[in-house]
Amino acid sequence: MNQSPIKVFITGAANGLAEVREGLADHPDVELVGTAADPVKAGAKLAESAAQVILHGTTANEHVPAPEVEAIRAVTAAPIVLVTSASANSLLSEALQAGIHDVVLLPQLTDGIVFTIKKAHSLAAGRAAGAAGKAASHAEGKVVTLFSPKGGSGKTALACNLATLFARRHDRRTLLLDLDLQFGDVAIMMGIEPEKTIYDLVMARRELDSEALAGYVTAHQSGVHVLPAPLRPEDAELVTEERLGHLFAVAKESYDVVVVDTPPFFHGPVLSTLDRTDQLVLVASMDVPAIKNVKLTLQTLDLLHYPKDRRHLLLNQTGSKVGLKKNEVERALDLKVAFELPGDKDLPSSVNRGVPLALANPRSGLVKSMGEIADKLVPQRVAADAKKKKRRGVR
Ligand SMILES: Nc1ncnc2c1ncn2[C@@H]1O[C@H](COP(=O)(O)OP(=O)(O)OP(=O)(O)O)[C@@H](O)[C@H]1O
Ligand SMILES: [Mg+2]
Repeated sequence: MNQSPIKVFITGAANGLAEVREGLADHPDVELVGTAADPVKAGAKLAESAAQVILHGTTANEHVPAPEVEAIRAVTAAPIVLVTSASANSLLSEALQAGIHDVVLLPQLTDGIVFTIKKAHSLAAGRAAGAAGKAASHAEGKVVTLFSPKGGSGKTALACNLATLFARRHDRRTLLLDLDLQFGDVAIMMGIEPEKTIYDLVMARRELDSEALAGYVTAHQSGVHVLPAPLRPEDAELVTEERLGHLFAVAKESYDVVVVDTPPFFHGPVLSTLDRTDQLVLVASMDVPAIKNVKLTLQTLDLLHYPKDRRHLLLNQTGSKVGLKKNEVERALDLKVAFELPGDKDLPSSVNRGVPLALANPRSGLVKSMGEIADKLVPQRVAADAKKKKRRGVR
C-alpha cells in the first residue's frame, strides 16, 4: 500500500528501548522522526514530526500510563504501540481498551517490531478511510463556511484550526474543504503533501459516493480529512457548481462537520457553497476597508435572501489599538459581533511551520477562543450523539 518508510516517533522509557531504537534506525521500512523521554513535554515536537506510528516505552507493568498516553493523544491521532519489558497481565486488555493499538513485550527482534509497526499503521490507515467511506446512519453533517471579502483576514488559518478542534476535541469526523480553488493554502497550512485534490475528484468518471470520496481525501495527523484545492490555478474552473453540489451531498453523509475555506470573492462555487452552508462565519479584520467590504457582503447576502440566523460576524485580531471599536463596527454593519479573536504572534509562526496552532499549542488563549467558537457553531450535543452511535457500533 505505502511504499515509503513509516514515520515512527519513540517516546517514554523501558528496559531495552535503546536497542529497539538502534535496530529501527537501520531498518529500511522505518524512518525515525524523533524521540522524547517525556511525551508531556514533547507536544510541539511530536505534532510537527508527522509521525505515523508512536512507540511508547513504559516501565509501569500493571497499568497503562494514562497521562503519558493522553499527552500523546492530545497532539496526534497516530496509532500508539506500547513497549514494555515487564510481563504484563492486565496491561494488554487495559491498553486495548484505552485505544492503544498493540503492546510489544521486550526483548524482541527488530523485524518483529517492524511487523507490529506496519500492522498498526495499516489498521489505522484503513480505519481512517473507513470513517469517510461509511454512509453512517446519523444526522447529516453540518457545513461551516468561512468567508471574508478581503484577503489576509485569517479565513484559512481559522478554517484549519477549527477543523483540528472539531476532530481532536470532540472526536467529530471532520472534512476540511479548500474552495479557494486558485490559490488555496489549506494543504500548506496543515503541513501535508496531498496525492489527490478536488481536481482529481471532479475529473473522475466514477460516480461519487462516500467510498469514492474517501479515496481523494488526505488524512491529517489530527484526524481531519483534507480535500485540497487543485495544484494548478488553471484547473480551478473545472470545479463546476454541479460537481460541488454532489460533493456536498456525499460529504454531509460521510462527515459530522465539513469546514469550508473560500477565496476573498463571490463566484459560482462560493454561491453554491452558501446554499449548503449551515453556519457562515464572516471574518473581518479591524480596519475600515474590511468593514466596508463586509457591509457590501451583507447587502449581497440580503439580495440572495441568505438567512440572517446563519450569519456570524467574527472580528479577528482585536485588542490592538487601531482606533476602531466593536460598538462602532456593530453600528456600521447593523449586526452584532458574534465572535472575537485576539491577535497571537504564535499563529503566523505555526502557519509557517505547517502545524495548526490547535495542535502545536492547544492551551493558548487564541486556541481557547477558537474552541468556544467551534462549540457554538456545532454544539456539543451533536458530538455526544455521534459518540453514542459510535458506541452502538455505527463506525
Ligand atoms: N488572530 C490572529 N493573530 C495573529 N495572526 C493572525 C491572526 N489571524 C490571522 N493571522 C495571520 O494573518 C495571516 C493571513 O491569514 P490567512 O492566510 O488565514 O488569511 P486569509 O483570509 O485566508 O487570506 P487569503 O484571502 O489571502 O486566502 C496569516 O499569516 C495568519 O497567521
Ligand atoms: Mg486563505
